[in-house]
Amino acid sequence: MAHDQHDWAPTSWRAHTAAQSPTWPDLEHLARVEEQLATKPPLVFAGEARRLQDHLSLVAQGKAFLLQAGDCAESFNEGSADAIRDKLKVILQMAVALTYAAGVPVIKVGRIAGQFAKPRSDQFEEQDGVRLDSFRGHIVNDEQFTPEARRPDPERLLAAYHQSVATLNLLRAFTTGGFAALSRVHAWNQEFVANSLEGKRYEVVADDIERALQFMKACGIDLHDDSALQGVEFYTSHEALILPYEQALTRRDSLTGDWYDCSAHMLWIGDRTRQLDGAHVEFLRGVSNPLGLKVGPSITTDDLLRLVDALNPDNVPGRLTLISRMGRERISELLPPLVSTLRDEGRDVVWACDPMHGNTFVASGGQKTRHFDDALSEVSQFFAVHQSLGTWPGGLHVELTGDNVTECLGGGSRLAEGDLDLNYTSICDPRLNATQSLDMAFHVAEFLQSYSAANGARSL
Ligand code: PEP
Ligand code: CO
Repeated sequence: MAHDQHDWAPTSWRAHTAAQSPTWPDLEHLARVEEQLATKPPLVFAGEARRLQDHLSLVAQGKAFLLQAGDCAESFNEGSADAIRDKLKVILQMAVALTYAAGVPVIKVGRIAGQFAKPRSDQFEEQDGVRLDSFRGHIVNDEQFTPEARRPDPERLLAAYHQSVATLNLLRAFTTGGFAALSRVHAWNQEFVANSLEGKRYEVVADDIERALQFMKACGIDLHDDSALQGVEFYTSHEALILPYEQALTRRDSLTGDWYDCSAHMLWIGDRTRQLDGAHVEFLRGVSNPLGLKVGPSITTDDLLRLVDALNPDNVPGRLTLISRMGRERISELLPPLVSTLRDEGRDVVWACDPMHGNTFVASGGQKTRHFDDALSEVSQFFAVHQSLGTWPGGLHVELTGDNVTECLGGGSRLAEGDLDLNYTSICDPRLNATQSLDMAFHVAEFLQSYSAANGARSL
């Protein structure tokens, strides 16, 4: 990449303040682990990150749609093959519905194989007069409320690396080994339509897809042989929060000489670590991976323009995805000036909607939750904003799991507050379960269809 990296090094973030950093009790131990990690093989290759960026440049031009989804926080206790398979399965099912509706490719990016670190609103947690460090994700400490569990442990960086390796290995096998074949994913969607109440609404879309597949078959395309239909491209991403880990996995690409953070294809900066002069912006501006930036209610137009210019000084389309997470009550007021300013200033970015993080609340039973209808309302307003500004609602960013959890309210299964304890397993934020996720995807598919219908021949 052409951008000027002469005043940047993988270590230059260390001269800046890193918000949300754990207080590591033993810095020498941390340094030893960093050295060990720096000798490990990369998880992903620079060429793959470049390919994702090319795909995202299509999203920036309104010619593709981004689906970024997965856990709020992956768990060291939950890396089973079945859990990974079920998460991938639901993401692929969502993508098929969206591809059909959007009529453009859907770029699939998981919050997976490295999503282990969490920013927290409070540095400490207090229970019955005892105050301990907050839980910051399994890459840092453990969620049990004991002093040992909450003590940040550098060995966890290595454990996170090894679990990411295993997860990515399985994802690579699943996405190329026939599991992800289009005809198979479609059959799962037909099952959802036939067997669930919320699925019934989507009979028409599923039948349309079935007819499209029949048409392809009739045209002589072998659905079981064509390689484009047998596998999918699936990319990984996580919040680049723990910079010692990210730095240790950052390598210079032998082909281009550019630096890539090889812990994932795409990295994002959270809403709480996006300070212009902070360590996270400093680190990520220098790596050539495609980047995400969470954009929450406190951002000003000026902040955003400066961040966009710091992270993407050459205005390369696909380099930067802005992930709006305003909350359903404020998105219609806060998002339009940001989108229109960037449009008027000619900044090429992808706009994606995270309808989860601005809509969290505590239920009467004390559980952290979100209502499906609130999330859906935020996505619907996101589409309306882009429609009125003539810009492309480029993507959806959600927290989900393939398991039948009871963490978010509502959706087709009409989950109520009293149901939350039935199967609440998230170690951090509440996730959509498999049926709520599919329900969301089919709704978004409808939004995409209305968007195309309204825009007709209007070019973006
Ligand atoms: C997240 O995506 O899990 C997260 C913490 O989001 P945000 O930075 O938008 O609060
Ligand atoms: Co979250």
